[in-house]
Amino acid sequence: MSIKKDEELLKLVKKNEIPAHVAVIMDGNGRWAKNKGLPRIAGHKAGMDTLREIISCAAEIGIKVMTFYAFSTENWKRPPWEVKYLMKLPEEYLQKELCTLMEKNVVIKAIGDLSRLPRKTLSAVNYALESTRNNTGLTINFALNYGGRTEIVDAVKQIAQKVVEGNLDINKIDSHIFAEHLYMRGVPDPDLLIRPSGELRISNFLLWQIAYTEMWFTRILWPDFNREHFLRAINEYQKRDRRFGGINK
Ligand code: FPP
Repeated sequence: MSIKKDEELLKLVKKNEIPAHVAVIMDGNGRWAKNKGLPRIAGHKAGMDTLREIISCAAEIGIKVMTFYAFSTENWKRPPWEVKYLMKLPEEYLQKELCTLMEKNVVIKAIGDLSRLPRKTLSAVNYALESTRNNTGLTINFALNYGGRTEIVDAVKQIAQKVVEGNLDINKIDSHIFAEHLYMRGVPDPDLLIRPSGELRISNFLLWQIAYTEMWFTRILWPDFNREHFLRAINEYQKRDRRFGGINK
């Protein structure tokens, strides 16, 4: 993108209406690779470059939280070689990027059932969580072995346990108490969800949290998605009329 076009787009984005939390389903890596006659893993590798660009832009415009869907509880159904590669990606990404993320004051977090991750992946993730723990800038949540339904079921189990043990009054359970048992406690729900690749579905991502999230879909495949598309998505989000079930005065 030319500097002039970038400046124009940046001007369109209202600084006082930046979404606090943006969630992204990084989709289309496989199709991108296929279109180019490349192996699927080349698509995931290219997707990692997009991730870098979007994180940098998010930090620049002052987004507080970004949540990226990196591996779903259903992605284990993929061929073993692809699962193996997808599990190596966080390790590769964090090894390469941790210094830059520290410079940008980014906090890394992970959501999902991390117990099933390979040992090396888990230790790379834990190292990043620990290293960035005291940073105060943009928070990045990586959803790894994440499933919205599993998250809800886990929350139900924790709540039921507390009720059974007499530590929680059943009549006190409401949506706030429930949300405190989800992976991202205390984090505001996403304001905007971006899904590239032309698919018009949620695919088990943040099912509870997206009740009033604005959706932005595009046909662009994730490896082709860039700063310009991201700024356009933010700009379109800022034109939406969010009523949360109420009416405008
Ligand atoms: C979906 O595309 C993409 C994924 C399952 C993986 C996305 C992960 C990354 C881009 C890198 C993650 C990096 C870190 C640091 C966690 P797809 O394979 O379903 O594409 P297709 O629908 O075109 O086949």
